[in-house]
Amino acid sequence: MNNTIRKPIIAGNWKMNNTIKDSETLINNLIPLTKNKNCDIIICVPFTSLERAINLTKDTDIKIGAQNCHFENSGAFTGEISPTMLAEMGVEYVIIGHSERRQYFAETDTIVNKKIKSAISNNLKTILCVGESLEEREKNITEKVVFKQLELSLSNIEEKCLNNIIIAYEPIWAIGTGKTATSTQANDVCKFIRSTILKLYSKESADKMIIQYGGSMNSTNASELISEKDIDGGLIGGASLKVSDFSIIINAASTPM
Ligand code: 13P
Repeated sequence: MNNTIRKPIIAGNWKMNNTIKDSETLINNLIPLTKNKNCDIIICVPFTSLERAINLTKDTDIKIGAQNCHFENSGAFTGEISPTMLAEMGVEYVIIGHSERRQYFAETDTIVNKKIKSAISNNLKTILCVGESLEEREKNITEKVVFKQLELSLSNIEEKCLNNIIIAYEPIWAIGTGKTATSTQANDVCKFIRSTILKLYSKESADKMIIQYGGSMNSTNASELISEKDIDGGLIGGASLKVSDFSIIINAASTPM
């Protein structure tokens, strides 16, 4: 990370884990370990735990995010949650375009684009996920894939809205597999993402953009990954469910480089 220009952000993505009771325990244990850190801390909890999480983290250094939302504000979309509903609750962030949503729920870049626009118009900050599959990496088309994801996801989104967007580079082959991208592999793509923002917008926006790495980031590898110039923190799955591991990752991002 380059913490003279950007403040790192560590975000936990709990995925479909933790009952309300489990969430309460985890958050209560996490609060004292997140005080006065040099990075922003977000936890993205299941919809059912949002209300409790928001209440528990009031006046703390933890911010709360959701893991998905629909692109319409209301309507006949059985089972969906709208960005208006999230904003009303006091949710601050929402993950959009996670590879698990793309893979299991057929989310396309066009849908991702609609969701980002809708989230932003509801004053939610977005964590936009991009990343290639193993097959795409082996075919040497990672940059092509990531460029297309960014170009389509950010289509017709005004430059001023980028202040409310974080990008998470999550190579699909590294998610939940224990196979982390090397810090060089991860930084190369994060650097490419930054150059894409420069191309689509401006140098100023590229320099300011927070770009996280996600995919088997843990207490052992976080420090090396985050010390790379273009990696501004992490989006963490499995390791965010364990207070001690998540706290080590927070400290790794919080240490002045
Ligand atoms: P893991 O850290 O479990 O690999 O998950 C990464 C992820 O998908 C975060 O969004």
